[in-house]
Amino acid sequence: MEDWSPTSWTTKPIKQDVTYDDPEAVKAALEKLKKLPPLVTPQEIVNLKKCLRNVALGKAFVLQGGDCAELFDYCNQDKIEAKVKLLLQMSLVLIWGANKPVVRIARIAGQFAKPRSSPTETVDGVTMLSFRGDNINGFAATPESRRPDPSRLVSAYFHSAATLNYLRAALSSGIADLHSPLDWGLGHVITPSIKQKYERIVNRVTDSLRFMRTVGLDRDRGVHTVDIYTSHEGLSLEYEQCFTRLMRHPPDALSESEESRFSSSSSSTARHRRASSTSSPPPRGYYDTSAHFLWIGDRTRQVNGAHVEFFRGLSNPIGIKIGPTMTAEELVQLLDTVNPSKEIGKVTLITRYGASKIAQHLPGHIAAVQKSGHLPVWQCDPMHGNTQSTPSGIKTRHFSDIMSELKQALEIHRAMGSFLGGMHLELTGEAVTECVGGAGGLTEEGLSERYETFCDPRLNEKQALELAFLVAGFYREELEEPTDI
Ligand code: PEP
Ligand code: CO
Repeated sequence: MEDWSPTSWTTKPIKQDVTYDDPEAVKAALEKLKKLPPLVTPQEIVNLKKCLRNVALGKAFVLQGGDCAELFDYCNQDKIEAKVKLLLQMSLVLIWGANKPVVRIARIAGQFAKPRSSPTETVDGVTMLSFRGDNINGFAATPESRRPDPSRLVSAYFHSAATLNYLRAALSSGIADLHSPLDWGLGHVITPSIKQKYERIVNRVTDSLRFMRTVGLDRDRGVHTVDIYTSHEGLSLEYEQCFTRLMRHPPDALSESEESRFSSSSSSTARHRRASSTSSPPPRGYYDTSAHFLWIGDRTRQVNGAHVEFFRGLSNPIGIKIGPTMTAEELVQLLDTVNPSKEIGKVTLITRYGASKIAQHLPGHIAAVQKSGHLPVWQCDPMHGNTQSTPSGIKTRHFSDIMSELKQALEIHRAMGSFLGGMHLELTGEAVTECVGGAGGLTEEGLSERYETFCDPRLNEKQALELAFLVAGFYREELEEPTDI
């Protein structure tokens, strides 16, 4: 790709740009970032890419979730553990339901930068810049705090590094050990029916593991730990370019026999892991080592814009958010631009139309992509098209809308011979009250109890698990097994 470099995006028109008033300080921050070690390695990125290829082929499911806007303050043991445990619980339910390996990607360790619908806001009569994320400016509503501060870019790196360090340490110390899924803890506010369903799945897993241990088959790493990949929106291109580094190794040597062993293998998580963690060197190319997976937001996905220019040069698996304003032609043009070789699973299309609009847009998008010969991962984000405000001005989402968009996505893909490979959620492991509805019956009046988000409303633990059960139930039906739990 001769006409591309990590900085070629600067020649293109950019949306959601940040204007700093001290260019020297920006330069100093970027110089510092360029010298710091990568947060993730190309080998890990390639491993995720292989997993996502299998998702695109219908052999695995991807669960992606985390905060809308991560804050530096979330770099904290309890918050990280709560999020990890929730993702583990949800993936256990999904593995049981879909009978497929689940690829876990967290919106964590770098999900700071936020696109905003308006560059400014007026608080108590004072007009100031909008909050753009902890890596750009402060949340406090004063013009001074809202001034973009380039030293926050460096701070973002160190908070990401500390978060990731603890995530890796917790995983390697056995937080994800399948022998103890009950220790992952269900919050005290969980509804009895969800708790019961979850415990029944755990009992089945425990029985199977006991049997495997008896016959000596539980020594695989997959039983004792799992991979959790990191992701964020690649919005702040100044930051991303600093971590985009050339990998010079020879082409990937994954042997044919290894490939075919995997393709013909059963869907057991253990085999999946073995095949996906092959240690052949990653192919030559530019890897954005700030996270394993990056996505382009719905507001910055213009085919001739800076973000698409930057993303088209990356070897990482990438996501593109797709809202109702996307046309089928534009979608195919975008895929041709970021993935001209039509690599399977390289691109994840993250659809977020809204419950009342999905039926109007998704079928046309699926048909156009099928005709184009691209095979992306289709992922449903049932959050961003369903945001609304209560009469008193609180931003919320109705659980029934979220559930409805997800259910329609499952059905539309099935009807069109396509495959919904995953879901993309804004969630937190804490018992927040930000989305209305769900089995807990949260009402609009109850929202103020624990409304803590700094951006979009997130699902709490119990609402997130309920969604996992919905998807699991859908696949159980497909397997024609009675849903007896
Ligand atoms: C997000 O994922 O937080 C987001 C801003 O999404 P979108 O680009 O789909 O609006
Ligand atoms: Co959001």
